[in-house]
Amino acid sequence: MLRLVVLISGGGSNLRALLERCEDAEFPARVVAVGADRDAAGFAHAEDFGIPAFSVPFTAFPSREAWGEELLVQLEQWAPDLVLLSGLMRLLPAVVVDRWSPRILNTHPAFLPEFPGAHAVRDALAAGVVETGASVIVVDRGVDSGPVLAQERVPVLPGDTAARLHERIKPVERRLLIHTVQRLATGELRLPTPEESP
Ligand code: GRF
Repeated sequence: MLRLVVLISGGGSNLRALLERCEDAEFPARVVAVGADRDAAGFAHAEDFGIPAFSVPFTAFPSREAWGEELLVQLEQWAPDLVLLSGLMRLLPAVVVDRWSPRILNTHPAFLPEFPGAHAVRDALAAGVVETGASVIVVDRGVDSGPVLAQERVPVLPGDTAARLHERIKPVERRLLIHTVQRLATGELRLPTPEESP
């Protein structure tokens, strides 16, 4: 049974989908804690499912590194097998990436390496592409630059707003994330060792 800690910043709809999937006794993973860099609305989902939650408020720390050190303390307490960033809108400092990679994954609402960064959906729309996508990657020291574990194309439709496109992408993200966790838990998929990562 894979122990998961999920880190969020926002509404946590992807987190909720994972929590719902973990209700299935057959699913080989459990969310043991939910963390955020702020008092995230998504904590409500953790509460609904009786999952402990912790906040490490980014604004309460003098630097990204100091924030990262406290985040590490919290993560160690839960001893996760896998850390999942699912809507964490914060770049992790190297001290966190170096301690957890490759056992730290991120979901991203684009077909990486297309449109990395915090505005992927808006950027895809502005670029006028007819399709974008969703990706699950291993977090490395770069911005959305780690090895891709799963990704799938999502169409951009005429008249799409960023919000409508993002809501079309998120269900694909959730499915890819859940499937990737399942494949890692069963050993069907193996995480790249740090040496293998480019
Ligand atoms: C997701 O698309 C995630 O990839 C991106 O922000 C969104 C979070 O959505 N970083 P939610 O908070 O899970 O609803």
